[in-house]
Amino acid sequence: MGMGVGIFGTGYAGLVTAVGLAEVGHTVTAIDKDPDIVARLSDGTPTIHEPGLQELLTANLEAGKLRFSTRAEDAMSASKIIFLCVGTPPRADGQADLSQVEEVSRTIGQQLDGYKLIVEKSTVPARTAYWIDTTIRRLAGPEHEFDVASNPEFLREGSAVRDFLRPDRIVIGADTDRARSLLLDLYEPNFDCPIVSTSVTTAELIKQTANSFLATKISFINMVSDLCEELGVDVATVARGIGLDPRIGSHFLNAGLGFGGSCLPKDLSALIRVAEGNGVDVGMLREVERINTARVDRLLAKLERALWVLRNKVIALFGVAFKPDTDDIRGAPSLGVVPRLHGAGACLRVYDPAATRKLERLYPPDDRLTYVDSAFEAVRDAHALVILTDWEEFRSLDLGRVGSLMRTPIVVDGRNLFEPAQMQAAGFEYYSLGRGEATFRTEPKRVHV
Ligand code: UGA
Repeated sequence: MGMGVGIFGTGYAGLVTAVGLAEVGHTVTAIDKDPDIVARLSDGTPTIHEPGLQELLTANLEAGKLRFSTRAEDAMSASKIIFLCVGTPPRADGQADLSQVEEVSRTIGQQLDGYKLIVEKSTVPARTAYWIDTTIRRLAGPEHEFDVASNPEFLREGSAVRDFLRPDRIVIGADTDRARSLLLDLYEPNFDCPIVSTSVTTAELIKQTANSFLATKISFINMVSDLCEELGVDVATVARGIGLDPRIGSHFLNAGLGFGGSCLPKDLSALIRVAEGNGVDVGMLREVERINTARVDRLLAKLERALWVLRNKVIALFGVAFKPDTDDIRGAPSLGVVPRLHGAGACLRVYDPAATRKLERLYPPDDRLTYVDSAFEAVRDAHALVILTDWEEFRSLDLGRVGSLMRTPIVVDGRNLFEPAQMQAAGFEYYSLGRGEATFRTEPKRVHV
């Protein structure tokens, strides 16, 4: 049976959760304090780029199962379960900024009238539930009943709708029977996957350790990748050779520029802080961070070795988003590469299928930085092409045309998108990561002046 669900925050997790819960039959009221966002979403226009979201948003608005509002009371009066999905961005010191979580907790505390289950969905450090509970209790007074639970999300950008509707597990962290059974009622009838029912703090820790483990896998293969270069071995073959062992698993073993986004880097750093704050040595996780930060340095060193002098070189950059199928640039390699190459005096021509507008706001165009609308426009007259994101569109480009448009056909591939032999045959001087036999030079076929 459908339940009334309120959602505070219509950012990434909030919007996908709102649409997903409406789709499986619940009645959802989603709150955002920004009236423009509420107007856009109420109109059926998604505020993020996510496959499948548009269709589900429109269908559930039309079916009356989903509505958006700026008024907290609309969610409070219509729902027994309230999800907190507001942003928890990292502060300058690396800790999560929990001011939005506190603000919503205060609003809930002021408006509480009858039992509510408050569920943390935003990724938060362990013990945040305690502070949500305390904040609400101080304002609501002892006569009002409520519980605070944790239900972390495991959505990947680019496949978040599918991940929500077909999860591999659901984690429910609740410290009372009432909270646990409400969350089971919400999920059990609609999802056919294991449900891990645990305490609130355990659920918070599961979220951070899941992302930190994924980050560790990526840094591990990137470390191996550097060794592969020295030994003349292809890291992709090593990854396949180890990944077929189900204890290791083949996912998240793609070597390249490392992990970005708003989740892996943030959760890793938050876990380090929680552990160190509790006196636990997590030097291993610090190394995972260090290896990741060094990936961009490695790529730029290859570019500089290939071009010798960077000043006044025209460099095409493919890929602004932190990964394909999203317009999100948080933690993306482009954020490190663009200012560094620009600072070195290069002329940059930047292309991404979805995310250039966001980078443009941070680094406005000038006479040495242009944002273009197609891959071919980016490579025209370029001295080199640098690939930062593994969009499928780049993989399927007409390489002959790319090469013929470039001034010198040099490709520095931070995502190992191409087969070295294929690039050699197409006449490119091709550099990639972790492929010992793959980094080679060919004489440029032609040099335009
Ligand atoms: C990640 C987790 O995968 C989700 O399970 C989790 O729910 C989410 O964080 C979150 O906490 O909200 P996401 O940030 O969307 O999802 O991105 P991933 O698909 O995990 O990719 C992260 C980064 O790792 C990307 O920059 C990607 O390019 C990189 N990556 C991924 C690699 O460098 N190699 C790989 O083999 C895989």
